[in-house]
Amino acid sequence: MCGIVGYIGKRNAVPFLLQGLEKLEYRGYDSSGIAINSSKGIEVIKKQGRLGVVKNIVESKPDFCSSLGIGHTRWATHGSPSDLNSHPHVSSCGKIALVHNGIIENYIEIKKNLIEKGFDFKSDTDSEVIVQLISSLYKNDIFSAVKKAVKILEGSFALGIICKDNPNVLIAVNKDSPVIIGAGTNENFIASDIPALLSETRIICRLPEKQIALIKATDFELYDFDGRMTQKNFTTVNWEVNAAEKNGYDHFMLKEIMEQPEVIKATLSPRISGPNLKLDNAVFSKEYLKNLNKICIVACGSAYHVGCVAKYFMEKLLRKTVEVDLASEFRYRCPIIDKNTLVIVISQSGETADSIAALREAKLKGARILSIVNVIGSTIASESDDVLYTHAGPEIAVATTKAYSAQLIVIYILGLYLAKSTQKINDENLSLLVKKLQNLPYQIENTLKYKEEVFKLAKKYYKYEKVFFIGRNLDYAVCMEGSLKLKEISYVHSEAYAAGELKHGTISLVDENTLIIAIATQPELVDKMISNIRTVRARGAKILVITSSLYIDKFNQVSDDVISVPEVSPELSASLAIIPLQLISYQIAKLRGCDIDKPRNLAKSVTVE
Ligand code: AGP
Repeated sequence: MCGIVGYIGKRNAVPFLLQGLEKLEYRGYDSSGIAINSSKGIEVIKKQGRLGVVKNIVESKPDFCSSLGIGHTRWATHGSPSDLNSHPHVSSCGKIALVHNGIIENYIEIKKNLIEKGFDFKSDTDSEVIVQLISSLYKNDIFSAVKKAVKILEGSFALGIICKDNPNVLIAVNKDSPVIIGAGTNENFIASDIPALLSETRIICRLPEKQIALIKATDFELYDFDGRMTQKNFTTVNWEVNAAEKNGYDHFMLKEIMEQPEVIKATLSPRISGPNLKLDNAVFSKEYLKNLNKICIVACGSAYHVGCVAKYFMEKLLRKTVEVDLASEFRYRCPIIDKNTLVIVISQSGETADSIAALREAKLKGARILSIVNVIGSTIASESDDVLYTHAGPEIAVATTKAYSAQLIVIYILGLYLAKSTQKINDENLSLLVKKLQNLPYQIENTLKYKEEVFKLAKKYYKYEKVFFIGRNLDYAVCMEGSLKLKEISYVHSEAYAAGELKHGTISLVDENTLIIAIATQPELVDKMISNIRTVRARGAKILVITSSLYIDKFNQVSDDVISVPEVSPELSASLAIIPLQLISYQIAKLRGCDIDKPRNLAKSVTVE
């Protein structure tokens, strides 16, 4: 996810471009830049790093001004963060500058064609392909060139475009990526999101899907991709700026919980084409897979909990040993690792010191390193042999939600890919599971619809000071994540426990002041879970069960409350069971007056051991 802005009007564009980008840094901040159409032509200032780097350069150039400009703050998806990969991108002819938010899925073939036509490229990005494509179609009519280009591009693109020959026109395009037009007096604005506009105007027009805006200082027109003019619909925004950055939610955490369906679609879609799965650039030879003796997963915190789900998921599929280690423990146990071990490092930030240390230890022992990371070009990504990126976008809340869910998706894809490559799954079962994977975003959407019901249960239970999350098999791994969510944002002491293990001592802590949150989605373990719940209920505990819609009646008989999630393959149930746990932790923390997005003592990325 990136942020784009644009200005055309009576004032100097630069101040708005900079402050607008500042308001959009929550969408990405690994690099930024602005371009203006001045008397000298197209001028660009763009740099890797935070926006302040660009600001300092602008301040050193007092004559860097114009009434027309565009800007961009980047969350890298193609090409690591660097000056060259930052936006705006300029066509080889120097006449057209462009900023882009989204992913172009056919950029490789377009780039190949343009190179054959003599175009040279400076960056590794898919976005530069767009501006060069428009340039290749430009015959002194920028609108016509853009219209032709959008019919060739596949994927998602919110664009801001300026052209040296057209100093009175700002062009915006929306296809599967938002662009909002802000209407001013003798000036108009564009931005990816409302926060960038609120300091200038509250009158907005959302550029509809698959449309182009031709914007002048005093007015603008909208056109569909066939060039037909369309109607403009204006609305007035009454959000405060702070609320707008959270898309109207009270906290980034809730916004990110609600983003999960889109994030999962973004993580899934580049890796599924028909019945086939793609692992980006990772290739596992038959020889390698034949000699593969085990998989070792190392991670911390929530990423470790994804590894625990992965163990159950992968071992059942691959019939190969899958070890899971806390990264901080891994290298001190003299792990048995060699060139036939695949070490998977999972990390949202890609900068967690414990995980980096574990990666380097495994590499020293000759293992192949595959990492699952959310930040392009991060340390873990750059030191791995293969990287599978989650497309969760920037995760602002310290407590991870959407990145955790995206990591699960990558694990499912990796596991199924390896199972297919080692003939451990037939085409029919693979196709069935892929279809269920593709249905997950919609099932999560349906689960999120019951947010208010879950919040009511949070109200009922938020004063409990002693909470046990219990489950078996995959559900136990989900309990670990549910317990961490509750602890880290509400400061309530809780513990994840294998349901079958409580009776071996810890049940002595269970009394009428105890809340038991039981996860029960595994069909063959439902009856065992019912007897475990009866045991703790007999000691006075309150019981909240998260289960599949198939077992509501069974658990209603032994619990105080039941939250059901849509029925899904047991192997994929973690992706649904975690949703109510994220929501209930969020609401309990809110009711307890905690700082949800920035919990005490915590940092988003733990870069110390
Ligand atoms: C999870 O909500 C926490 N923020 C924390 O446990 C986190 O998962 C852990 O520090 C690992 O971070 P990473 O995924 O960036 O490596």
